[in-house]
Amino acid sequence: MWLKNQPHLHSLLGILVLFILVSTASAANRGSDILDKGRNITDGDTLVSADGSFTLGFFPPGVLAKRYLGIWFSVSEDAICWVANRDRPLTDARGALVISDTGSLFLLDSFGQVVWSSNTTGAASTTLQLHNSGNLVLSDGSANGAAIWQSFDHPSNTLLPSMKIGKNLWTREEWYLTSWASANDPATGKFRYITNGEGVPQNILLDGDKMIYRSGPWNGLRFSGVTEMTSYSDKFAYRLTSSSSEVTYSYVSKAEASFSRLLLTDDGVYQRLVWDPTSRLWKIFFQAPRDICDHYGRCGAFGLCNANAPSTSFCSCVQGFSPTSPVQWKMRDTSNGCRRKMVLDCGNGMSSTTDGFVVIDGVKLPNTHNVSVNASITFEECRARCLANCSCLAYAPLDLKGGGAGTGCIIWTEDLMDLRYVDGGQILYLRSTKSELDGPSVSMFPTGIVIGVSVALIIILVLLAFWVIITRRRHRMQRVLVHNGLRVTGGSDSHSPNPASPMTSVPTIDLHTIIEATGSFSDANKVVEEGFSVVYKGQLPGGTVVAVKRLKQSLLTDKGRQHFSREVEVMSTLTHVNLAKLLYYCREGDEWILVYEWMEKKV
Ligand SMILES: *[C@@H]1O[C@H](CO)[C@@H](O)[C@H](O)[C@H]1NC(C)=O
Ligand SMILES: *[C@@H]1O[C@H](CO)[C@@H](O)[C@H](O)[C@H]1NC(C)=O
Ligand SMILES: *[C@@H]1O[C@H](CO)[C@@H](O)[C@H](O)[C@H]1NC(C)=O
Ligand SMILES: *[C@@H]1O[C@H](CO)[C@@H](O)[C@H](O)[C@H]1NC(C)=O
Ligand SMILES: *[C@@H]1O[C@H](CO)[C@@H](O)[C@H](O)[C@H]1NC(C)=O
Repeated sequence: MWLKNQPHLHSLLGILVLFILVSTASAANRGSDILDKGRNITDGDTLVSADGSFTLGFFPPGVLAKRYLGIWFSVSEDAICWVANRDRPLTDARGALVISDTGSLFLLDSFGQVVWSSNTTGAASTTLQLHNSGNLVLSDGSANGAAIWQSFDHPSNTLLPSMKIGKNLWTREEWYLTSWASANDPATGKFRYITNGEGVPQNILLDGDKMIYRSGPWNGLRFSGVTEMTSYSDKFAYRLTSSSSEVTYSYVSKAEASFSRLLLTDDGVYQRLVWDPTSRLWKIFFQAPRDICDHYGRCGAFGLCNANAPSTSFCSCVQGFSPTSPVQWKMRDTSNGCRRKMVLDCGNGMSSTTDGFVVIDGVKLPNTHNVSVNASITFEECRARCLANCSCLAYAPLDLKGGGAGTGCIIWTEDLMDLRYVDGGQILYLRSTKSELDGPSVSMFPTGIVIGVSVALIIILVLLAFWVIITRRRHRMQRVLVHNGLRVTGGSDSHSPNPASPMTSVPTIDLHTIIEATGSFSDANKVVEEGFSVVYKGQLPGGTVVAVKRLKQSLLTDKGRQHFSREVEVMSTLTHVNLAKLLYYCREGDEWILVYEWMEKKV
């Protein structure tokens, strides 16, 4: 039996020897990060970067018949960051990557036909190397040889750290991300993510040629509409270069940060992904468009989108403007935007204009296409320049790096497009008529002034102010009650759903009285709409004119209430400086309402 089987054993040994030989031969390419001229990479072979982070090889995305040459994260083979022949797949597993005699990089099919080429000419000693950054570099092989070609100059759908998108203004060369056609098809899709340098640089997501999302202009720290960038700035450093030679955006990972990538998905979503080695999953740090207000121009010209306000179909007009087509607007078609209610004074081109500026706080700045920019003037000069030129509709600082109000100047002279609220957003100064500015000053108080006042000081002042209010109002209340027959309930000793709230020391007023005073919160009485509240002008039964500030129903979240309460604290501390006094509050059912003394704006 043993003898009988010997021929089999021989052939078995032969196969084993052959197998060892074959595997050592291909191991020459597996694990190496360099491909020299004369060698090749065939399907099954790989190049691996020196630190093992990235792998180059052939892969089938779903459909096994089609094969592509690409680079992926070694820890996550599905995370393909670059594809060579995305529009010309190989139909079998017999492709090969070679460096041609002319120093060009060729991807050949089984017939030796060139499927993809780097279109370069190099020196005799050209080599190809997969760097630790994930960049595939073809160089002339000398020690400090310049790159003849590199994959970072030909992005697919992924931006890796130190890779850039944007434009070389001298060569007109452009780098941008292009989506895959579908999840299993790396072919060039219809979505693009670009860095646009017109006006102020901003990143833009395009569907074909149509803008569907923009990051908002770069403000020195981050993109105006991507306030999330601050939350992970410990992991990344962002780089926006805007010079006479280039406008580009890139980022680098700070030391010890794990793998990350910016991905443009096949369905047009832009994501910042970070690898979590523990769960071995990619975590989404940012994603856009993130909500209804991220869709470009959702509320039309001079519209203001608030993702937390479904009750207004998310759109309102900026102060001093009303819907251009009210009927369509009511039918949820906000595309025609808003127009100005009253003509600007403009001062007949002189500096004597009565116009002023309304503060719109917490926003992503409008589209910066066709804006005028000056980086060298101060914020105050910017205001003066805007006021002096009637075509200036709004202004904002260009650069917030130095803190304070910022420096430099952006001036808008065309329709304000794509304005939205974002958490932690910046301030836009909107040109406005005198009559609009004569609203209650509560709406125009720049939060900047509040910054810097320590929390302790605020608390002390709150207590003081409330003490003053209690004692003053209690007396006045009695008189009001007697003379006006107001349906006002008691002060601090009335029932309170939240005894810890400072509001308990301000007298309450019943909802019915407020509804009557404001004509059921009619639009005609609406003075201003802010991030989390709407202010109405109202008249109490005794004739007292008041400003009624109503928390938006959509913001009855803990966060909304917090914002609201914080404002109450802040406003209370400032009652001594030309600001309206808090008279009453109302908290019935879902209503959170503050009633302020009506004050004409002091300029
Ligand atoms: C790849 O290299 C092998 C051996 O190194 C060689 O036999 C083969 O012909 C090469 N293929 C191509 C397409 O150059
Ligand atoms: C190389 O040139 C061909 C023909 O001009 C072009 O179709 C192809 O896209 C180019 N390849 C690269 C990688 O630029
Ligand atoms: C920007 O200005 C140019 C010329 O001044 C004009 O043709 C174009 O329509 C403007 N773009 C927009 C979006 O208004
Ligand atoms: C910015 O304003 C300054 C001062 O008025 C002026 O000298 C400079 O030319 C302006 N720069 C640009 C780019 O308009
Ligand atoms: C006002 O601004 C517009 C647009 O930037 C500009 O064309 C015009 O020359 C300016 N007018 C004055 C008087 O500065």
